[in-house]
Parts: sequence; C-alpha cells; structure tokens
Amino acid sequence: MELKSVKGTRDFFPTQMRLRNWLFEQWRETAQQFGFEEYDACVLEHEELYLRKAGDEISQQLYNFTDKGGRRLSLRPEMTPSLARMILQNQKAFSFPIKWFSIAQCFRYERMTKGRKREHFQWNVDIVGQSKEVAEAEMIAMILTFCSRVNLTSKHIQVFLNDRRIVNRILSTLQIPEASHLEIMVLMDKRDKLSQDLFEKMLYEAGLSDWQIRELQSYLSVSSLEKLSKLLADETSFSSLRKVFEFLNASGWGEYLQFDVSVIRGLSYYTGTVFEVHDISKTQRAICGGGRYDSLFSAYGGESIPAVGFGFGDVVIMDLLTDHQLLPSLKSYCEYMIVPFSAEQTAVALQISSMLRKAGASVTCNFGFRKIKKSLQQANEAGVEKVILLFPEELSKRQVVVRDMVTREQNPIAIDELIPSF
Ligand code: HAM
Repeated sequence: MELKSVKGTRDFFPTQMRLRNWLFEQWRETAQQFGFEEYDACVLEHEELYLRKAGDEISQQLYNFTDKGGRRLSLRPEMTPSLARMILQNQKAFSFPIKWFSIAQCFRYERMTKGRKREHFQWNVDIVGQSKEVAEAEMIAMILTFCSRVNLTSKHIQVFLNDRRIVNRILSTLQIPEASHLEIMVLMDKRDKLSQDLFEKMLYEAGLSDWQIRELQSYLSVSSLEKLSKLLADETSFSSLRKVFEFLNASGWGEYLQFDVSVIRGLSYYTGTVFEVHDISKTQRAICGGGRYDSLFSAYGGESIPAVGFGFGDVVIMDLLTDHQLLPSLKSYCEYMIVPFSAEQTAVALQISSMLRKAGASVTCNFGFRKIKKSLQQANEAGVEKVILLFPEELSKRQVVVRDMVTREQNPIAIDELIPSF
C-alpha cells in the first residue's frame, strides 16, 4: 500500500492546517472588506469548459475522464469557467456588477517546479459586469490590501501590468494576422520557461519570419510605457492601462506598480489588462495573476459580459511568507482538559465535560489514565488553558481540582460551581 500522498498533492497535518486556515481567513476577510460575497461550485466539471482552441496549456493539463454515464468530466484546473457557467445559468437573477470570491481547490497535471504543484488552492476574485477600469483598480487594490495585511510591502513584492491590446498592436505592426494573435500570445507567455532557441523555434513553427521574431523580441525588451507608445505611434491601445495606473496611483499604491510588456498570462480568454504579482527578486513563480476577460461569457454562448478577476494560489505565497519569517506561530487551543485517573471516573468526566460545553466552553477529555505529569504535558501540547483533575478524594466531596496551566495554581472547586467560575 502506497502511504505517500499522490505525486504533486499535499497532506495537511494539524500544524499545516492551522496555517492554511489562517491564510484563508486573511483572504476571506480582505474580500469582505471590499464588499465581495463568497460562492462555491463542485470540483468536478464538464471537460468542454476547459477546451480552448488557442492551445492553452491548461487544456493539456486536465485531470479528465469518462464517468460511468459516458460523460466527459474533469477536475477543475481553475475557477473562472465555473463562475461563468453559474452566472450564465441564471443571468437574469443577478444585478450587475457581480462581486464574488471563492477559495477553490484546483488540479492541473503540471510539470512540477518550485511553486507549482498538481493541486493547489486558489483565492479567486472577480467583478462581472463592469467595463470600466475601476474594476482592474479594485482587483489590484484588493491584492495589495491582502499583502499589507500579511506584512508584505513594496520591498518584497511588485505588481507587473500590461494590456493584451498593446500586444495585439505590436503583432499587427509586425504584420502578423489577427487570427494568429492568440496562439502567438500563448507562446509568448511561455518565454520565461523556454530557452531562447526553443522559443524562437516555436515562433518560427507558428509562422513568424526571422524578421518578425527579431522585432518581437526587441519590442518585448522595451521597459517604459511612454517609450513603447511612441514607438508604436499609438495611444488607443494604451489608454485603458494608463487609467488603471492613474486610479491606483490615486489610491496610494503607486510604489508597487511596474509596466511590463512581457506579461501576457497563459489563459487565452484575457482581452485587456493583464497583471501578475512577483516577489521583488523574481526568483519565484508568479504569486498571483489575472486580468480582463470580456469575451468568455459570449464564448460559452451567452451574452457578452465584461469581467475582471484574478487567481491567487496558496503555494508561492506560503513559500514567500516562510522565507521572510512572516508566518504567525499558531498553537492549538482548548479551554479545558478533564483528567480522570481511572475508568470508574469516565461517567463523571463526561458529565462535567457536557456541562461545560453546554455553557459554551471548549473541552477535551483525557482518557489515557496516565500519571499526572504525563497528562499535564499532553495538556500543554494541546494548548489547554485549565486542567480539571479528578482526584478521588475531592471527587468523593463532589469537588474537582482546577489547575491554571499558565500560573500553575491549583484550587479545589465544587463541581456545581465550575460554571460561574469561568
Ligand atoms: P492562472 O494564472 O492560471 O489564472 O493562475 C492564478 C494563480 O494560481 C497563479 O498565479 C498561482 O498563484 C496559482 N497557480 C496556478 N497553477 C498553480 C499550480 N500548479 N501550483 C500552485 N499554484 C498555482 C487562473 O487560474 C485564472 N482563472 C485567474 C482568474 C480569475 N482570471 C480571472 N479571474
């Protein structure tokens, strides 16, 4: 029997689970601070939701299968298609813009590298039905609010922004037909993961000439927004991104932002602004990524609805917080531990514990019947505040001994008076 978890997946032991719950709480509370509501869907979805023509990597990474009823299904690799499906199913019932978030487990059959696993949790936040740049600004402000909450500053992270309309403009300037833009963008997104030679070979195979490849590389090396807009002699494809910068600067997040024309994101449904957050040294994979996707709903056969959102995984952020020693030290906690010393005391121990629980306390019973030293050690490990010792002598007088685990003080107290005492 294989005892290790499936390759690329994780077990969460209580110590890790405490940290996972803490992270989810930070995500949840940040989203609620911005007025977003939580939703969820089943991890099992129809495979066709993820099959896209542009050659998205995600379509090749599915955990998919045929069920006993002959349906093609997949574990979800991302949450956005489920969100779109849910909204399209019941579009008339909602008033737009919809502001929803979810913390979803996702599965991708990825080549495993640092920061990438085959299963991860993703904080997904989306605004659906807002075509203006306030949506992008709100998304990025939310990411940065979360980062500040966990004490990450502009010394640790940066947001890199681009707009696919700018990339379309570059590709058009290079006389690359519009029909191949998406395919080229999906390839461009892989640039960091490939050697220069392989990247060029793939572009070549996609139909680009040597001149187009050379020029494309040279556009990708321009780091200033002003310079690039002048080079392309074009303002329209830049106007939206300029507004995003303006809104975020006005909200006080300016020091976190950088224009980066090489940010594409791998999903083919993005149509406008795209962004990702990286650690400052860019040694780790993207911490989170997202963008505007105005044509996903129509691609699923519904009306066209503008939308912006991001996915923020739990893997890289936990690595980063660990590296910077920013994780809290979380201990287990229980108010009371009841310690009987023999099996005959079981009933009275259960009686006291249910009395305390009814009064709202958290109570654990230690039925190990061990020596007092060992029981106190276990109480310590379980983060217990007070231990209730059932010494036979006191018990014969309907009393127990209560030990404060911090001060180590011990006092006898009548069982019936236990409740008013806490
Ligand atoms: P994505 O760029 O594919 O976007 O993933 C978003 C984030 O999920 C990544 O930046 C990373 O934090 C995390 N992530 C993705 N794959 C893995 C993996 N194999 N292991 C660990 N973490 C991973 C999306 O999924 C879009 N649906 C986001 C979105 C929402 N766009 C609009 N709304």
